[in-house]
Amino acid sequence: MASRRPSRNAGGPTQGFGSPLTLAIALDFTPAVTRRPAPLTVSRIPRMTLDEFKSAAESLRADGPAQIAAAATLEAWTDARNHLVGRTSGRLSELMTALGTLPKDDRREAGQLANAVKQELEALLDARHAELMRQQQRGPAIDRTMPGRAAWRGSVHPVSLVIDEVVEIFRELGFTIALGPEAEHAWYNFGALNFPADHPAMDLHDTLYLDDLVLRTHTSPVQVRTLQQYPPPIRILAPGNVYRADPFDASHAPMFSQVEGLVVDEGITFADLKATLTRFANRFFGETKTRFRPSFFPFTEPSAEMDVRCGVCKGTGCPVCKNSGWVEILGSGMVHPAVLENAGIDSERYTGWAFGMGPARTALARHGIPDIRILYDSDVRFLEQFAR
Ligand code: PHE
Repeated sequence: MASRRPSRNAGGPTQGFGSPLTLAIALDFTPAVTRRPAPLTVSRIPRMTLDEFKSAAESLRADGPAQIAAAATLEAWTDARNHLVGRTSGRLSELMTALGTLPKDDRREAGQLANAVKQELEALLDARHAELMRQQQRGPAIDRTMPGRAAWRGSVHPVSLVIDEVVEIFRELGFTIALGPEAEHAWYNFGALNFPADHPAMDLHDTLYLDDLVLRTHTSPVQVRTLQQYPPPIRILAPGNVYRADPFDASHAPMFSQVEGLVVDEGITFADLKATLTRFANRFFGETKTRFRPSFFPFTEPSAEMDVRCGVCKGTGCPVCKNSGWVEILGSGMVHPAVLENAGIDSERYTGWAFGMGPARTALARHGIPDIRILYDSDVRFLEQFAR
């Protein structure tokens, strides 16, 4: 240690050299040539009286806490620690070095003071470090009382909302879901459904063909696929997309959704059809009136369209119901015996009924929307009004 070496200016006691007198004699007898200037480190050691040491220690004790508290990041904390209690260049290490230059009798008191300051600062440093680590885990300071900003994350499309609700109502009535392909064999789409060979719906102008397949024009082919696969009793609902070579206008789209329903069992009658569909209408639209109008489909006999009281004008007449007071909701009928036979079901033993509805039209009727194209425009200002 440099401080053990006698320096030119050494006046006080130095470790290992006994009393000042001994030191003075030793210096006196040292040949002049060997009395080289002491290394710089020696002269840099602060030489202090006990009072100076105490005031240096107290000023460190006074400054430290504020510096530690001011360290707002882990880097600042490291700087503060190095500055205050760092082993090589910190203020405490300077004090410890100076301790050795104090008169021997003062060292005990000075050492105790330095140790006390050291412990105080280290305790504060530890606490601050723990606090900074907690802050880092919590992330940046946030004001939890600020009102939140909800991001528009999209919502279920009004047509999908109708489908979900229809499915839910029929699920309560014991129906399960069945699905079929959108690219369908003409036989399932037309032939098995009893379309006569020259039916105009099969015309190229009405139907989109893909080589041997057609883009199904309705969900009714799922009736046949289901009947082929499962024995009665059957109660299914088949939602899905269908395609027609229709122009896009206020009430038509070339692609739209349908929900098909099918019930086949022994002893099923038109009363089941009317009761079930009326029950559905009252669940879906709220207490309402329904009416069944005779209609025609090749795959049902007899056939009927079901109308409900216009929800917008409650029957007094408005543009949505074209002043009729009624809105057409679905087509339905008793499953034609030929369809049952085509699917391999004994039509002497089993009867059934079916319906097909267009949820887009239902959404229009429900919300009083005048043009079906709005549903397909993807205009968020329109769609977000239905956000659930
Ligand atoms: N498939 C018919 C259509 O698309 C609707 C329908 C389904 C009618 C089932 C009766 C029975 O118009």
